[in-house]
Amino acid sequence: MRIGILGTGRMATTLGGAWVAAGHDVLVGGRDLAAAAATAARIGAAGHGALRDAASYGEAVLAAVPADAAAELVKSLAKDLTGRVVIDCTNPIVPTDDGVTLSTGGTTSIARRMVEAAPDAYVVKAFNLCHESIWTLSPPLFEGEPLAVPLCADDPASLELVSRLVTSMGCTPMPCGGLSRAVHLESTAAFAIGAWWSGAEPRFAFPTPGQSPQPA
Ligand SMILES: NC(=O)c1ccc[n+]([C@@H]2O[C@H](COP(=O)([O-])OP(=O)(O)OC[C@H]3O[C@@H](n4cnc5c(N)ncnc54)[C@H](OP(=O)(O)O)[C@@H]3O)[C@@H](O)[C@H]2O)c1
Repeated sequence: MRIGILGTGRMATTLGGAWVAAGHDVLVGGRDLAAAAATAARIGAAGHGALRDAASYGEAVLAAVPADAAAELVKSLAKDLTGRVVIDCTNPIVPTDDGVTLSTGGTTSIARRMVEAAPDAYVVKAFNLCHESIWTLSPPLFEGEPLAVPLCADDPASLELVSRLVTSMGCTPMPCGGLSRAVHLESTAAFAIGAWWSGAEPRFAFPTPGQSPQPA
């Protein structure tokens, strides 16, 4: 699969690296060409270029930029993104005195803002729940099970494409409904990040209903 990446930072590096390792053709795009070249070289990408080059490169385009910049950026690239799948991994979190909150207020999602900014692209919310370091694991296995990657999408073909991408990384796609639910993935990320920052383990808060307790 051909994948363009908007951004040259941590998520661009680790997710892009996982995609290169899975055999995909990745082009890293940045507003700083030297940074794009460095990230591309670091992960063995097929190429690098400007943001517009990445937007028009592939079937899928990852927006790996700060949440509050994402919609404006996507709007400026809307023509290039026509008909492409735009993967939104952003988390609109802001630190507070007692954890983190959402810059959106939790009433809408960055994914929804991206749809409004580029109505002819197909937005899929994905890859926002895990810390970047998880994408360096090959494959990401936990308790012997592949990592599940929650996905929200309105377009079935786009959901299928990102599901294939997830599977190619050794992970399991977890469809979570349409984009109206992306707000829940963003809120869940805020909850998890707040818990991690306070030293807690959010995964222990989600046992399977009815699961037998482990013997002591
Ligand atoms: N890091 C994580 O563990 C993690 C996990 C899940 C989700 N996310 C989400 O993934 C997104 C990227 O996070 P990150 O950790 O990769 O951030 P990062 O390392 O700070 O990289 C951000 C990238 O965005 C670029 N950028 C910033 N503002 C821009 C703008 N207005 N237009 C174009 N490019 C711009 C930066 O370019 P310059 O270098 O030119 O400033 C940089 O290449 C964020 O929305 C974050 O919430 C991160």
